[in-house]
Amino acid sequence: MTSAASGSVATEDGKFAREKFSSRNVFVFAAIGSAVGLGNIWRFPYVAFENGGGAFLVPYVVALLTAGIPLLFFDYSIGHRFRASAPLAFRRLNRKLEPIGWFQVLVSVIIAVYYAAIIGWAAWYAYFSLDQRFGSSLEETTSFFTGDFLQMSEESFSFDFVGNITVMIAIVWIGTIIVLALGVQKGIGRLNQFFIPLLIILFVIMVIFALVQDGAMDGLNQFFTPDWSVLTNYQVWIAAYGQIFFSLSVGFGIMITYSSYLNRKTNLTSSGLVVAFSNSAFEVLAGIGVFAGIGFLVHAGGMAWDDVQGGVGLAFFTFPALIASMPAGEVFGFLFFACLVLAGFTSMISIVEVVIAAVRDKLNINRVNGTLLVCVPLAIISLLLMPTAT
Ligand code: ALA
Repeated sequence: MTSAASGSVATEDGKFAREKFSSRNVFVFAAIGSAVGLGNIWRFPYVAFENGGGAFLVPYVVALLTAGIPLLFFDYSIGHRFRASAPLAFRRLNRKLEPIGWFQVLVSVIIAVYYAAIIGWAAWYAYFSLDQRFGSSLEETTSFFTGDFLQMSEESFSFDFVGNITVMIAIVWIGTIIVLALGVQKGIGRLNQFFIPLLIILFVIMVIFALVQDGAMDGLNQFFTPDWSVLTNYQVWIAAYGQIFFSLSVGFGIMITYSSYLNRKTNLTSSGLVVAFSNSAFEVLAGIGVFAGIGFLVHAGGMAWDDVQGGVGLAFFTFPALIASMPAGEVFGFLFFACLVLAGFTSMISIVEVVIAAVRDKLNINRVNGTLLVCVPLAIISLLLMPTAT
């Protein structure tokens, strides 16, 4: 690859040549890396459980077919046709549409700030899984997280800059800067070629681990047993569409940005279908793994079905409790949190790239400068906003 194509040297007209993924497969890995994230692992299982269990799959598949896949193709076609970041691609479609692209950049900024923190927390919890210092009952794990770990009690915003969490969030941002400064192929492409197969292997091992525990089948029954009455509830349909948007990474500029790095002649139809169905397959697999695990914890008397939570509660309260109760829980816990870190990081890279691409297109600056200009302020905001612990 020439320096111009890596985004570091301007061509004779003063512009930077558009960077490229080296092949369609690399792009597919990157797009799956973006799609598969926290939304799949901690959001989908809970949303499905809360919205009709097995019956949720009906609005989910309808949302996938009527919004997810069409919007994915829309994003691909805009990015691929106009070969630009979201704001510039929309501007090239119609000048008046540029604000839509900037709105997507703003959404990406907000998501990136909290994603960095959660990846940092998950990295600490991968380590904590080894000695299970978070305790074993739900009360203990909850109070460990909010008290010992985040120190949220009286001084939730104490701005402790030397805390362990601060260090980990800073490491996440340094990793992000290194990958993104390396560019589209050497950074984003290579990272995903390595991380996505690794994530799949670790995740499958984790799910098998959960499935062989006592109570796992009860968990699957709880997860899949359909409550058909929810199909007439519009909120369930909204939940399904919301899940698809977030999970497939459509509507916030990511797929526009990534597809702008493809060769003109690339056929995107099959790639889009591979990405969409891989994302959903991962989501359902996550539901199986998470509910098999919760089934085990309920069976062991550690919680009741009414206490099932999603998001932060699932990862940082429920999972530590089940890690502490499970035979070889260290291994299970390490796998679970390592998967959160891998899935989260590959999504975070795509989210931050939306912002970098937009700023670079606007200011015509090289990749390294664009990366620093975007990431340093975002990292500072992440560090300032997130509660920290010493
Ligand atoms: N698509 C990413 C996720 O599911 C943002 O977390």
